[in-house]
Amino acid sequence: MDRTALVTGASSGIGHATASALAARGYRVIGTSRDPDALKPEQRPAGVEFIALDLADEASIERLAPALAGVDVLVNNAGESQNGPLEDLPGDALRRLFQINVFGPVRLTQLALPGMRQRRYGRVVMIGSMLASFPLAYRSSYVASKAAIKGFSNGARHELSPFGVWLTTVEPGSIATGISERRTKYIAGDSAYRDDFATMLNALDRNERAGIGADRVAATVLTAIGAGRPRAHYAVGSNAPLVFPLRRLLPAGLMAKLTHGRHDLRR
Ligand SMILES: NC(=O)c1ccc[n+]([C@@H]2O[C@H](COP(=O)([O-])OP(=O)(O)OC[C@H]3O[C@@H](n4cnc5c(N)ncnc54)[C@H](OP(=O)(O)O)[C@@H]3O)[C@@H](O)[C@H]2O)c1
Repeated sequence: MDRTALVTGASSGIGHATASALAARGYRVIGTSRDPDALKPEQRPAGVEFIALDLADEASIERLAPALAGVDVLVNNAGESQNGPLEDLPGDALRRLFQINVFGPVRLTQLALPGMRQRRYGRVVMIGSMLASFPLAYRSSYVASKAAIKGFSNGARHELSPFGVWLTTVEPGSIATGISERRTKYIAGDSAYRDDFATMLNALDRNERAGIGADRVAATVLTAIGAGRPRAHYAVGSNAPLVFPLRRLLPAGLMAKLTHGRHDLRR
């Protein structure tokens, strides 16, 4: 194996598990962290070299250009898990979320594509979220950012496929990574949504703790990367093999009721 993979946010959770699995398969793996020098040994998967990346900082993204030119596999994993009622979400928080979850990964992809196209091989994996397929109250900005990144992947897919370069989206459900401790939350002091928002957050954190391990998502990412013609979409966790077929069969209103019920919200 003489292929190089770059995994953003490889210091924790899904990114850590994916970087580790790719290194075990024999890839040269570059992982990113906002502060590689501060990482504890357990945050550094074996065989993975780290470089600095802060997706909120455009200059930091551009500094990755030389590394990305030689990358065969790009896993856009790092992201912000933002929460809040639409009415209360500050504009600067929305702009930061879209910079980190959408514009940053899109720019990294642009920097990787010319080399992949010239070498006639490439895989770009967007780590989305099942919430983009099953939208949820108080997660509208996050849902929109994950739908946007999936839209880029789906839209550009057949620009690149003639060159042997495949874009794909992996949508995890609830995955026990400890992300609950790192969620950003916005609620106005006098918000009309306070109680309902707290109910949703409690259920979200409970579901995350009961979720499957990040290694299961990593296995799905490796399946996508290893496919000759990767599918546009993969999903893993939160009963994905059951709920995606159900979504095709049931009325949208009932699906929304089920999604909200899973988060203790009656709709
Ligand atoms: N866990 C879930 O239930 C779940 C479900 C669906 C989708 N997802 C998605 O899966 C991805 C990974 O989630 P996770 O649960 O593994 O999260 P996590 O454990 O919190 O890991 C996030 C990673 O992203 C990096 N990161 C955070 N902010 C960054 C920034 N501004 N610029 C660059 N890197 C940044 C962090 O690295 P440093 O702190 O070292 O910089 C860390 O390695 C995210 O896109 C998330 O939205 C997760």
